[in-house]
Amino acid sequence: MEYIVKVENLFKSFGQLKVLEGISFELFPGEILVILGGSGSGKSVLLQILVGLLPADKGHIWLHGQEVTRFKKEEDWYPVRLKTGFLFQMGALYDSMTIYENVTFAMRRHLRLSEKEMQRRVKEILKAVHLEGVEDKYPAELSGGMQKRAALARAIALNPPLILYDEPTTGLDPIHSTMISHFIRHLQKKYNIASIVVTHDLGCAYKVADRIMLLYKGNFVFRGTLQELKETDNPYIKQFLEGALEGPMQG
Ligand SMILES: Nc1ncnc2c1ncn2[C@@H]1O[C@H](COP(=O)(O)OP(=O)(O)OP(=O)(O)O)[C@@H](O)[C@H]1O
Ligand SMILES: [Mg+2]
Repeated sequence: MEYIVKVENLFKSFGQLKVLEGISFELFPGEILVILGGSGSGKSVLLQILVGLLPADKGHIWLHGQEVTRFKKEEDWYPVRLKTGFLFQMGALYDSMTIYENVTFAMRRHLRLSEKEMQRRVKEILKAVHLEGVEDKYPAELSGGMQKRAALARAIALNPPLILYDEPTTGLDPIHSTMISHFIRHLQKKYNIASIVVTHDLGCAYKVADRIMLLYKGNFVFRGTLQELKETDNPYIKQFLEGALEGPMQG
């Protein structure tokens, strides 16, 4: 089977700080991969490298069959980004635009749709994330959790075959958190959308994961299916799941 994402021997440091030390993994079309890891372990850095917001130091990345680590100019990224939704950790809506303008931003640039068709789509997408009727509001007029869901609406607006989620449930109440987890699954089942979900939220991880990897000190110290995670004796996973202070992971 063709990979939708392939990462080979990826390194990233900031000065003396080594963040990623030779990681490799693949993601298949329609698969949901959860990446767990402590705060500062490099999860957001990894996602930002994948979409070209940060450069890799070394290694190779293929997205949608193209080696993005060979790209020379910003425009090279455009077709790849069209096929890749990205939900930032901090939401990152455009403050000066309404929710309607935020969600249609990419559509307007890349698809030739009538205003009417865009209105119909936005309505449908907002309904799916339980945010009906907020089209004309500005981000500052929404609660943090609502902003998160509006950012999710924007990330999925072009119906991309790959979505990268950075902490999709952080800052949401338990019910909306479950709703988002179900939504990630729904996108997979209905449209065969592949996802990488970076999270601390074990409830979310259990609800969405086909496979799980735990990042620690620049490498994956566990990889397995959800079932394997539940049954493993891996000391890193045990410590992470229990939130124990004692164990192989420090800090
Ligand atoms: N642009 C940057 N410049 C310098 N250092 C950075 C930059 N981005 C991240 N870092 C550092 O890289 C490390 C990994 O950061 P990252 O944001 O990936 O952590 P994380 O795993 O996403 O943590 P959290 O769970 O808290 O979101 C941190 O030590 C952070 O300070
Ligand atoms: Mg992060």
